[in-house]
Amino acid sequence: MSPGARPSRSRGNTKQKPEKTWVAVEEYMDELLISSDAALDAARKANEAAGLPDIAVTPSQGKFLYLLARMRGAHHILEIGTLGGYSTIWLARALPADGRLITMEAEAKHCDLARANVARAGLGARVDFRLGEALDLLPELAAEGLEPFDFAFIDADKENTAEYFKWAVRLARPGAAIVVDNVVRDGEVADAATSDERVQGIQRFLDALAGEPRVSATTLQTVGSKGYDGFTLALVTTQGDAGVGGWFR
Ligand code: SAH
Ligand code: DHB
Ligand code: MG
Repeated sequence: MSPGARPSRSRGNTKQKPEKTWVAVEEYMDELLISSDAALDAARKANEAAGLPDIAVTPSQGKFLYLLARMRGAHHILEIGTLGGYSTIWLARALPADGRLITMEAEAKHCDLARANVARAGLGARVDFRLGEALDLLPELAAEGLEPFDFAFIDADKENTAEYFKWAVRLARPGAAIVVDNVVRDGEVADAATSDERVQGIQRFLDALAGEPRVSATTLQTVGSKGYDGFTLALVTTQGDAGVGGWFR
């Protein structure tokens, strides 16, 4: 199955079904712009066969992450939330041969599958899998004193997104990009009275983002086979935007 030829059913646990036109446009674009890909197809199949939740990024979203990381010239990537390694494969492909991606995952089953999928994609040497709760792993990582990251993708439990973001900023080099998935959730993010703890987690993240002078950020809403959701993109600036005039934050 080509990455574009995916079932047109609702994915990713949004409440609403995706509109038919969202899915039709996604398939049209993927068919034209994303080549058929044995490693990614195999990863998706293996994840489905193992009963993993159908919540990986879509092919067009994966390629979007890959392009962002390549544009950034990323050498060191941090991913929080591996699942079966589908987004990991896209991101690791953006790295040069001596680049490194560290990905964190709490479930051993997910981590094992991801390791196999990434190895099958020929990217095993570039990816460092860390099994555990990300909130335990991040301070351990900080203590290792590795090179700072130039790209981070945050896509784990939404309740802890604000903490993950703070760690990503702390571990990033100036000029790094941080992408956060699932920040719109059917528009529920704009509901101040939401009782969904995951959406509340995203709201806490957005408050932290708004109060963080060292980043410049925006959110893009997305539609497609995963329904209506969105990404936040943050650029870690050297001195905070206020320091360079304060006009473009
Ligand atoms: N980025 C993946 C999807 C990740 S889904 C892709 O697009 O292909 C979210 C993952 O985060 C799940 O595998 C889940 O087990 C993991 N996760 C949830 N809570 C976590 C935590 N506290 N620490 C690390 N990983 C966690
Ligand atoms: C869920 C998690 C995700 O990372 C995603 O992209 C979609 C849905 C979820 O937990 O429901
Ligand atoms: Mg996600």
